[in-house]
Amino acid sequence: MTEQTDDSGRLRHLLTLEGLPRATIARLLDRARALLPDAHGGTALRGILAGRAVCTLFFEPSTRTRSSFQLAATRLGADVVDFNAASSSARKGESDVDTLRTLEAMGVHAFVVRHAEDGAVAELAAAAGPGTALVNAGDGRNAHPTQGLLDMLALRQAKGDDFSRLKVLIVGDVRHSRVARSDLHALRALGAGEIRVCGPQSLLPDPVVTAGCVVTTDLDAALDGVDAVMMLRLQRERMVGGLVPSLEQYHRDYGLTTRRLRAAADGAVVLHPGPMNRGVEIDAEVADGPQSLVLRQVANGVAVRMAVLEEVLGAAG
Ligand code: CP
Repeated sequence: MTEQTDDSGRLRHLLTLEGLPRATIARLLDRARALLPDAHGGTALRGILAGRAVCTLFFEPSTRTRSSFQLAATRLGADVVDFNAASSSARKGESDVDTLRTLEAMGVHAFVVRHAEDGAVAELAAAAGPGTALVNAGDGRNAHPTQGLLDMLALRQAKGDDFSRLKVLIVGDVRHSRVARSDLHALRALGAGEIRVCGPQSLLPDPVVTAGCVVTTDLDAALDGVDAVMMLRLQRERMVGGLVPSLEQYHRDYGLTTRRLRAAADGAVVLHPGPMNRGVEIDAEVADGPQSLVLRQVANGVAVRMAVLEEVLGAAG
């Protein structure tokens, strides 16, 4: 496996949150919080990555992750190359590794990669030159580490830095979710008091993924007293076979409604990584309601990705 940290514990790549020490995750979150005031405008930080080049290499669609990495790199002064798989020579059969090496030869220093295959970003990291950094922007069902980080930042903002008393519930299509895997790694590393996982049996993952969690198929029971509810998108594009009877039935059993949310603790917050299937896993009233952190998560994405790019490119103080 490609090592993602160097001998001093600094990230060379960010491939997964699995196995990252609590101190590393906390450092990135602290740095992201410090960067937040400059994350949404201004030129104050443009010297940090001036002269460096970052390529967003996306083989799968994205709105949030791709745009926020581009903004993050721009805010830090890097040049940004936006690789579009659909209009690239990948369409003529060029391999992913040849694509990477071609762009590397042009002077790209960091690649932000989204790919449909589990492990594809780690494979590219293994093929990259020694000075090139890879950041996983989501690979298959495996990991989405910057989503995990921005979710943790949203939880910290809402509930404070000490997670030891928090009850956190993850709901929905856990089986297909790289977000759930990265959130679980981060919540464990940060010492969440209790982690619950809920979904239909057909969408629960291998028990190894949910080790140490309370796992249930009963959403109303799972919601009882939780401080945070992390809803997941029903990933229709990754499903084969009839894993849910119908979208209507799924909403009846697992859709988060205002009525259902009343079972959570006072002040409970709701997260969703987006894109949302409104009326399927979450009602619009909840998504747009006072307990929703959805747009806060999106806003955090720019600062978190600034912190990650700064670290993997060796510019962190
Ligand atoms: N949450 C997330 O990864 O969204 P995008 O697919 O739009 O990047």
